[in-house]
This record gives sequence, structure tokens and C-alpha cells, in this order.
Amino acid sequence: MADPRIIFPGPRQPLHHFAGRHVEMARLIETLRGVATRARGAHRAGFTLITGTPGVGKTELSARFVAKATSLALGGAAPKAVSLKASELSNPLDSFLRIADAAGAGEAGRATAEMDTSIASGSASLSVAEASMTRDRKRVAHGFAAMMGALARAWPKGCPALIVSIDELQNATAESAAVLQSLHEGTEGCPVMPLGAGLQHTLAVLSGLGVSRVAPPITLGPLDAHDTHEAIGENLAYYGLEDVDDGPLSALADASFGYPAHIHGYLEAAVKAARQAGPHCLDDPRVLRNVIRDGHGARVEYYEGRLDAMHLDGGLEPREALMPLTAHFAKAGDRAIPQELAMSLCDRKPYDGQQTIQQAIAHGVLAAKDGMVSFGIPSFRAHMIGRMREWERSVSAAKEPPLSG
Ligand SMILES: Nc1ncnc2c1ncn2[C@@H]1O[C@H](COP(=O)(O)OP(=O)(O)O)[C@@H](O)[C@H]1O
Ligand SMILES: [Mg+2]
Repeated sequence: MADPRIIFPGPRQPLHHFAGRHVEMARLIETLRGVATRARGAHRAGFTLITGTPGVGKTELSARFVAKATSLALGGAAPKAVSLKASELSNPLDSFLRIADAAGAGEAGRATAEMDTSIASGSASLSVAEASMTRDRKRVAHGFAAMMGALARAWPKGCPALIVSIDELQNATAESAAVLQSLHEGTEGCPVMPLGAGLQHTLAVLSGLGVSRVAPPITLGPLDAHDTHEAIGENLAYYGLEDVDDGPLSALADASFGYPAHIHGYLEAAVKAARQAGPHCLDDPRVLRNVIRDGHGARVEYYEGRLDAMHLDGGLEPREALMPLTAHFAKAGDRAIPQELAMSLCDRKPYDGQQTIQQAIAHGVLAAKDGMVSFGIPSFRAHMIGRMREWERSVSAAKEPPLSG
């Protein structure tokens, strides 16, 4: 048994072994090389975007890319990186200083900020703090671009490229739009690689904010069978279950559908069992069944959490909003229906069908593909149908006339 002091990571924490994503990683590295070598020419890097449903591995891929990139030697030195969340960009001055610091130009950056915010704002009396708080987006955009321009001129020799990695980019707001746009527009001649990760609708959010020059997104799907086996096998070994037979390994892989967040859930259940019943416990079919049941519970819980995260106007209840769709699935027995049909089914006062379906897709409760929608995974669909029946029973019980007596 491996060292029992190794703590199994929480649901959003990185697993020890990272599997697959070779094509995506190669594309990211190639983009970075392009930024590092062509930045002095006319080339301007566009925004590189990683999108996908919640838990598919966007944050993890960004983090692994940053780790790999910053250990490369490009032109004799290692690229640098700064990681931010979209919600942190609403303060452009603070964003700029973190970027300048990461590039190794902290002092110059601070001096530039002092000067350029007042120059760019056109008002010598406007302090840096005021400039950073102003809601005048044009002026802020101008100021941020000017600061980035100044940074480009003073770019430190020891920094061949800087990755500015921004997570949860679907949360970008009008306040952060100026920073996002300037990250590639204001950085001509400056080897900055803006990298974003966000849910599937991030591209629509960006274009709604007027952020242009976004490269076609890298859209992540589940891991394929080979990578799923690797992710499960290697991590099981690391967390204490070496030499798990192919049977149990395949059972876990099939149950996970290759979805990283679910792989995480099954691994956690397996490691917990092994710490109680020993490293070979998965050979016992009963233990394996229990592990899969526990892992399954974690997946349903996960989707329930996604339902809670949905935000319908007036605080309407997402489960109730999706009831007509659930009822349709229960009756018709199909797995996917046209998105238009789903919207019209759910268009029942006070619910807005379009909003319900779009929100459900945005939060990964529903998966959308080729104009069709389905519940994220089949077992969640079954769970929703079960809940609907429970709910129907409680509604009809409430309608029963009270017992007299
Ligand atoms: N390629 C992978 N190999 C192994 N584990 C992965 C991989 N991608 C993601 N994970 C794990 O799956 C979980 C969810 O990944 P995360 O990046 O947080 O998803 P997202 O950001 O898309 O919501 C994390 O525990 C992460 O370590
Ligand atoms: Mg994430």
C-alpha cells in the first residue's frame, strides 16, 4: 500500500496523474512558441480559449500547460505565467501590476502605471486609484492599453513569453472587457499569450462584450477509453491501489464515461474502500458494487449542485422549470430531443423555456450537441425522472381530501 499520508484531493483539486489531452497540449505549446518568436514582428496573438462543460478538465489543462510551459527553455529562458480569475479583472490597475510583476518588470510597471494612467486618462489630476475605479470603460481601456504598450517597450530580456491565464472566463463582465481586449490589442510587440478557460458559452460572452480576435476554442470532451483507463489506473496506484485487475478497472472506467470530474468521484470512493478493506478489495464484486454506488452518488450530487447554480429570473426553481422536459424523457424514452422542442416544452408560466434550457446548458445540467439536448449523463436523467415521480406523488398526496375523524 502506498503512503497512507497521501491525502486524496477534494473535488476541485488536481488529481496526481494527468492523462491524455496530448493534442490540446501540443496546440497550446505551439501557440506559445509562436508568441515567443513572432512577437517582435507584426504578429499579434489572439485569445486562446479552452471551453467545455463543468468538470471536463479546463482548469486542470490550463494549470498543466502553465506548469509545462514555465519549465521550457525558449531562447535560453523559461516563459513566465500569471493566473487570474475573470472576476479579478474588473480592477485594471491591479491586473496590470500583477501582469508586470509576473513578467519581471514590477518596478518599471509601477512607475509606468503612475505615469500612464494619468496621461491616458487625459487628466493629470486623476490619481491611479481613481483611474482604476472609474467606470468609464473607454478611458480605462485606453489607460490599460497604454500601460501594456509601455510595458512592451520596457519588456524584460529575461522573459521570452508571458502566459496570462484567466479562469472562469464565462464570468467576464463589462468591467473586465477593456482588460481582455487590451491584452492582445495593446500588446503588439510584446510576447503575451492570453489564455482563457470557461464554460461552453464563453465565446458568446466575449463577443457580447466586444472582445474580438478570439482563436477557435479548444473544446474539451470526455477522455477516450485509453486515457480514461490511464487516469484511473495511474491514480489508483498513486493513492494506494496498485495492481488493480482489468475487470474492476474497466467497470470504473465505464461508469465514469471518461468524464474527469466523475473519474475523481469513483477514485475517491475506491480509495476510501481500500483504506478500510485493503488494497485488493476491488477484486471482491460486492466491494466494487458499493464503490460504484458511492461514486454514482457523488455524480448525482455533483449534478444536483449544478442545478442549484442555475439562475432563473425571480429565483424560480430550476428543478421545477425542467419538469416538463423530464416528463417528456420519462414518457418518450428517448435520450435527446431537439433544443427548440425542449424550449417550447419548458415554456410554461412562470418559466421562460428559452432561459431554462440555455441556463441548464450553460451549467452543464444539459448537454447540447448538433441542435439536440440531453441530460448530462444517462444516470442523472434516471435520477431526475425518479425525483419527478416522487414530486408527483407528493403533489397528489397533498390533493387527497383530509381524513375525517
Ligand atoms: N486529463 C485529466 N487527467 C486526470 N484528471 C483530470 C484530467 N482533467 C481533469 N482532471 C481532474 O478532474 C477534476 C475536474 O477538473 P477541472 O479542471 O476542475 O474541471 P473544469 O475546470 O472543467 O470544471 C479535477 O480533480 C482534475 O484534477
Ligand atoms: Mg474550472
